[in-house]
Amino acid sequence: MDSVIGLVNSIQRACTVLGDYGSGDALPTLWDSLPTIVVVGGQSSGKSSVLESIVGRDFLPRGSALFSCELCVIVGIVTRRPLVLQLYKTEQGQEEYVQFLHQGTKKFTDFSALVRKEIQEETDRVIGRTKQISPLPINLSIYSPNVVNLTLIDLPGLTKVAVEGQPESIVQNIGNMVRSYVEKPNCIILAITPANQDVATSDAIKLAREVDPAGERTFGVLTKLDLMDRGTNALDAEFCSRISPSLLLSLSILVSAMLKVLEGRSYRLQHPWVGIVNRSQADINRNVDMLAARRREHEFFATSPDYGHLASRMGSEYLAKLLSKQLELVIKVRIPSIMSLINQSIDELQAELNDLGRPVTVDPGSHLYTILELCRAFDRVFKEHLDGGRPGGDR
Ligand code: GDP
Ligand code: NA
Ligand code: MG
Repeated sequence: MDSVIGLVNSIQRACTVLGDYGSGDALPTLWDSLPTIVVVGGQSSGKSSVLESIVGRDFLPRGSALFSCELCVIVGIVTRRPLVLQLYKTEQGQEEYVQFLHQGTKKFTDFSALVRKEIQEETDRVIGRTKQISPLPINLSIYSPNVVNLTLIDLPGLTKVAVEGQPESIVQNIGNMVRSYVEKPNCIILAITPANQDVATSDAIKLAREVDPAGERTFGVLTKLDLMDRGTNALDAEFCSRISPSLLLSLSILVSAMLKVLEGRSYRLQHPWVGIVNRSQADINRNVDMLAARRREHEFFATSPDYGHLASRMGSEYLAKLLSKQLELVIKVRIPSIMSLINQSIDELQAELNDLGRPVTVDPGSHLYTILELCRAFDRVFKEHLDGGRPGGDR
């Protein structure tokens, strides 16, 4: 049987085509009923880098640095429409490719240049080259032997101030958009916090605590763990000679604070936090490839005097597997409610088709017909899944 994640992905695509990408108001739509994983965090916290590490490919548009120093780089807002990223694991040896929903069956095999360009152009197509944002998602499927089945939504980064000629309203608009996703009970929140910042001031954690106070559906991720390491464990003499003793001291204080978080001794969530080491800006400039970066991340944790004892549950590969399992679990629990919404949609679509009063199969409006067929197919598959002889009790 198809993975339940794949099935939900197809419903999600069908919804997007029909113009349903969630309602801002109280009445939930079919899209709203679908479990999703949403990536939230402050600007430059490492959201895009985490997504790229999970995929093992370098394909997202990059901003130019607005500010940069040893320990911190701030890039401009790049993600301006939600990016729905659907990952499908294929057989070993198969070629990796990408498909965009807005382009039908066209396949992209050139990740770095063409996929990035298409995301950028498709963003501009809807909102122009302004600094505005739009809630209309861009839907992207990645087929690869090197991924796990997973769906992730990248959202614009939370900001506190408008920059680069952005309208003041953008801060609030981004906040509202992110909130409209994370407040849904089906949403798994991937809360990205950079380790060079106090967790107490993390935008992602602040928001997650508001909408999920018990921390049941929040996965905390600490990025940039390597940055502090330069001044403490991996004593980088050249680096240390350039920074002040007080900064060095703050670095070691941050390292112990992060350790407490990763060990579950502070900012505890139901699911343990995962530490990540992505490519630095310098790595990106030098075009360090993703596989090399993954190896280095692995090595970082395996050999770290601070984090070594946690190595088996750190890193982007571990995170990807963890999230895939969690998403599948949540989908299985939600099958009955998804099914009831699908049935409701079938009824509504049927009524709409009846109103058209024309033979729908030959009509350009047969769009609706296709969706209807899709819904019916899901209805069947989900029912099979429910009756499928699995020992009871896991829903
Ligand atoms: P986003 O705005 O949240 O999507 O953040 P990006 O993923 O674009 O990252 C912003 C900057 O931080 C980039 O220059 C990245 O190279 C850098 N960065 C992200 N994660 C890490 C990390 O784990 N270690 C280091 N050293 N730099 C990182
Ligand atoms: Na943050
Ligand atoms: Mg980004």
